[in-house]
Amino acid sequence: MGETLSIREQILSKFEETYGAGGEVRLYFSPGRVNLIGEHTDYNGGHVFPCALTMGTYFAVRRREDRTVRLASVNVPWAGVTEVSEIPERKVDTFGWANYPLGVFRTLMNRGVAVTGGYDVLLWGDLPNGSGLSSSASVEVGTAVFLRDFEGFSMSAEEIARVCQESENRFNGVNCGIMDQYAVAVGRQDHAMFLNTETLDCTQVPLTLGDCALVIASTNKKRRLGESKYNERRAQCEEALRRIRTERDVPSLGALSLAQLKEEQERILDPVLFRRARHAVTENERTVEAVSVLGRGDLEGFGRLMTASHMSLKNDYEVTGKELDALVEAALTEPGVLGSRMTGAGFGGCTVSLVKKDRLEAFVENAGQRYLEAVGYAADFYTAGIGDGARRIG
Ligand code: GLA
Repeated sequence: MGETLSIREQILSKFEETYGAGGEVRLYFSPGRVNLIGEHTDYNGGHVFPCALTMGTYFAVRRREDRTVRLASVNVPWAGVTEVSEIPERKVDTFGWANYPLGVFRTLMNRGVAVTGGYDVLLWGDLPNGSGLSSSASVEVGTAVFLRDFEGFSMSAEEIARVCQESENRFNGVNCGIMDQYAVAVGRQDHAMFLNTETLDCTQVPLTLGDCALVIASTNKKRRLGESKYNERRAQCEEALRRIRTERDVPSLGALSLAQLKEEQERILDPVLFRRARHAVTENERTVEAVSVLGRGDLEGFGRLMTASHMSLKNDYEVTGKELDALVEAALTEPGVLGSRMTGAGFGGCTVSLVKKDRLEAFVENAGQRYLEAVGYAADFYTAGIGDGARRIG
């Protein structure tokens, strides 16, 4: 609470510095997310198991009488101004990161929401950027939440997640699934969301980790080429599904078992497409199993499935890369580590590991040292706090 108060005071004083004093300034917090298992399954009709973090993006927002939107961030230098009526249909490079909030304005307006005012907005994030912890979904969902509050329209957290996914897909051109925006909007403290991405049925599962803790580690490798590779993987899964569907009536890869997929190997033909589909299918099976073993308190089993997920992302889906593999290997060499895997889209970003609490210090020290030796620069470690979804905080 002490920390939250001081962040609150700091962001309010930065807001005044940027935009001047006066008027009612409201504060919001929108988390990042970490996915525990179920990677690259959310656009294949499979299951995911993410949770919202206590790290994320703070927003300070004041309504204006005109219809000008001014956006600034404490973290990055770009600050910009536009009129609500001039927000385009697609992202423009000159907007930089502001494409994320502006895309949400545009998507809401396209859905018939009237944006009647202008806004002065200041963001302050404590998520490492480009780290695979969904800083973009955090900004998108936070924007929808403050607009809903100021403009007074009603919209459920689930619907906000859909709006923000649409904004990312259409405005920003990244064909992401629903997981990130959903986790950021719907998250609950100390719970992970077992979400069926085909039906959007969701169970909030208490994260009872006993004598273990989740540790997030950043490779400090930015996911530069991630977006084009991401869209390519998605297209490969769609092509594999298209080939299967020439003979079999199936809604998504997530609806297949591994045994059924094997029957389709000849129809898929291309070995790369087959491996991509095999990841989607086995990862979905692992996710369902992981939630069930966690329910039985079998943390060792959960950890093993996390590591198996990483190996499938490495070998079948090929989205890990040297840094993520080095960090997972460095983690798994350490005693007291039950499992470790990349989290998010891959190609850089973060890992998540399940570590015995009494081994935490040694883990950070030794895995960090091994990673440094393997790649030549240091990783950063965070003990993950699992928090609530995006909300007003003041
Ligand atoms: C990114 C996307 C998500 C999901 C993950 C991979 O984070 O935004 O929709 O596909 O990658 O699981």
